[in-house]
Amino acid sequence: MKDTLKTGKYELSAEVIQSNYKKFMSLCKLFKGRTEQLEQMYDGLTEERVLFAPGSSYNYFHNAIVGGYVDHVLRVIDFAKKEYDHFKALGLYTDNFTVEELLFAAMHHDLGKLGYPGQGKEHYVPCKSDWHIKNQGKIYEKNENIPNMPIQDTSLFLLQTYGIPLTFNEYFAIKTHDGLYDDTNKPFLVSWNISGKQRSNISNILHNADMAAARYEFEQWNEHTNSLNLDRLEDSSFSSNVTESKQIVVRSSYKNKKTETDTRWKDLSSSFNETFSSK
Ligand SMILES: [Fe+2]
Ligand SMILES: [Fe+2]
Repeated sequence: MKDTLKTGKYELSAEVIQSNYKKFMSLCKLFKGRTEQLEQMYDGLTEERVLFAPGSSYNYFHNAIVGGYVDHVLRVIDFAKKEYDHFKALGLYTDNFTVEELLFAAMHHDLGKLGYPGQGKEHYVPCKSDWHIKNQGKIYEKNENIPNMPIQDTSLFLLQTYGIPLTFNEYFAIKTHDGLYDDTNKPFLVSWNISGKQRSNISNILHNADMAAARYEFEQWNEHTNSLNLDRLEDSSFSSNVTESKQIVVRSSYKNKKTETDTRWKDLSSSFNETFSSK
């Protein structure tokens, strides 16, 4: 069993940070009629800030690394499109919002993480306490020189500051993208009567894409640092049948478990296909 010490570092190379930035800025062109204002907004927030901003604060959250913000947003855009196709394939209703609205909301869902216009107004600043970095993995902390407002509200505030109009669907998706992780979303998302039911799936799609992207980034970090130390689960069993449970338990590192889970997956999928095709 490996010890719990971190064994590696997780970061993006200068090349990846630069090419991500280029790709990110070129996406402004997707939004015809708003491209110019979007470019003005990102210029106003400065190239340097957009290039280097992290995706979060603690190393075990997601992408709390230099360039982590743009890397995260690009992943959310990619996953949102895939999740949209998935919803469609499942037969869920996707006709009352457009792909442009979904991609726009994905591109700006975490915009507030770039902070406010003006020098020294970034949202995240490097953590100044060595103790917190070492013992809590707190790599960045919230800048004290900006207003205390939820990130999604800062995102919407910034868009209006730069005169960028939003459709209702875009506003709603950005505002509620954290789903029920954010208590202030309850009035929007939880309803016990028909009139309060969500009218479209745009927020759900964005939420799923964001969760998957954040999880992906966490797993990348964990794979490089082994901080979660899945080896501890090697011999854990939640079934009285130890042999059986050992076959299905998620094992040690993501790499070593592959052959075993692949075989198990093949068995499961053939019985699954048999059941569903004989319906
Ligand atoms: Fe977010
Ligand atoms: Fe996000």
